[in-house]
Amino acid sequence: MKILHIDSSIMGDASVSRQLSANIVKQLQQKYGAEAEIQHLDLAVQHIPHLSSQILMGQDAEQSALGEQLLQQYLDADVVVVGAAMYNFGLPSTLKAWIDRISVAGRTFKYTEQGAVGLAGEKKVYIASSRGGVYGDDSPVDYQEGLLKTVFNFTGVTDVEIIRAEGVNMGAEIKQQAMTAAQAQIQAI
Ligand SMILES: Cc1cc2nc3c(=O)[nH]c(=O)nc-3n(C[C@H](O)[C@H](O)[C@H](O)COP(=O)(O)O)c2cc1C
Repeated sequence: MKILHIDSSIMGDASVSRQLSANIVKQLQQKYGAEAEIQHLDLAVQHIPHLSSQILMGQDAEQSALGEQLLQQYLDADVVVVGAAMYNFGLPSTLKAWIDRISVAGRTFKYTEQGAVGLAGEKKVYIASSRGGVYGDDSPVDYQEGLLKTVFNFTGVTDVEIIRAEGVNMGAEIKQQAMTAAQAQIQAI
C-alpha cells in the first residue's frame, strides 16, 4: 500500500492543512499497519521549478529526470494525501507546479475520439483542505478544491475525498469547530 503524502503550506508547524494531512496519514498507518509505505513530498522544501519550454520539450535533462520521478511516484501510489491550503482562491503555486509535472499526455491521460481518458488507474485521493474563510462545496470563487478534484478526475482518479477545515481565520471558536469536524471525518477513514 503505497501512500504518497504531499504538503504545500508555507506555514510549517502552524499549518492547518499539514496537521490534517499528517492525521490522515496516521489514520491510514493504523488501518494498513506494516503494509503502509509512505513517501512524503514537501513542496515547501523540495522546489519544483515552473514549466518552461525547455522542460516541456525535454531539453533539460535534470528537470526531465525530476519530472519522470514525480510522475512515476504519482502513478505508483495507491493512496495520495494532499495538504492543500487555499491561497488567493486557488492552490499554492508549488502545488500547481506539481500538477504541471504529473499531467502528462500518454502517461496520466490521453485524448481519444470520445474525449479525454484518464490513465492513472485505481487510486484513492484525500484532499486535506484548509481555508481562512467559508466557501462550502460549490462556491464559484473556489479554485482550490475544484481544481484539484478536476485534475485528479482528469487523470482517471474518481475516488476523491475532501477533508476540510474552513473558516480557520474567523476566530478561535469557528476554527476549533472546523478542526473537530475534520478530525471526526479522519477518524471515520
Ligand atoms: C498567501 C495567502 C493567501 C490566502 N488566501 C486566502 C483566500 O483566498 N481565501 C481564504 O479563505 N483564505 C486565504 N488564506 C488563508 C488560508 O487559506 C488559511 O490560513 C489556511 O489555514 C492556510 O492553510 P495552512 O494553515 O495549511 O497554511 C490565505 C493565506 C495566505 C498565507
